Amino acid sequence: MDNKKRFISLCKTINRKGMDELLEWLENNDFYTCPASSRFHGAYPGGLLEHSLNVYDELKRLLSVYPEIKVSEESVVIATLFHDLCKVNMYETEKRNRKNGSGQWESYDAYVIKEKFCFGGHGSKSVFLTQHFIDLTPEEAVAINCHMSAFDNNAYVGNTYEQFPFAWLLSVADQSATYIKEGEINQHS
Ligand SMILES: [Fe+2]
Ligand SMILES: [Fe+2]
Repeated sequence: MDNKKRFISLCKTINRKGMDELLEWLENNDFYTCPASSRFHGAYPGGLLEHSLNVYDELKRLLSVYPEIKVSEESVVIATLFHDLCKVNMYETEKRNRKNGSGQWESYDAYVIKEKFCFGGHGSKSVFLTQHFIDLTPEEAVAINCHMSAFDNNAYVGNTYEQFPFAWLLSVADQSATYIKEGEINQHS
């Protein structure tokens, strides 16, 4: 199954008012084609879609190691698939030059960040966008808000992770998707 079909079929398992509108918004904006980052992981069309599914798979893998963290399947789907909605409409391409393998200059399309909605936070922006369409439980909102751990506004999240272990697990799943599944270790194996 291709990534978009898989993403939509996971979304169809979510039973919340507003899901159809959220899916329509994703379709009408660049969620299915945008990259996951400008230069690092998933810097290609569809990179964010693939990363979101990777975070889902990594979270499921981690839950088998931490069965004491009890969370509904619906919360897993929502928190993983929508944690990076803040990146929708954030990237554009720009022509750049580089030397190719034979030393000749060639032009290529590079991703640049052109933020059109400067919310002032990464996780918080994803919470705002998701919550605009569907109601989030406190645990889902906290997990999405704090998925970058201390990398988002240097927020101290220790107490948050203690109160909401699922939020900690989402941050680990995000890192393991980024650094392991999409990282060098798997590019050369
Ligand atoms: Fe993120
Ligand atoms: Fe992420």
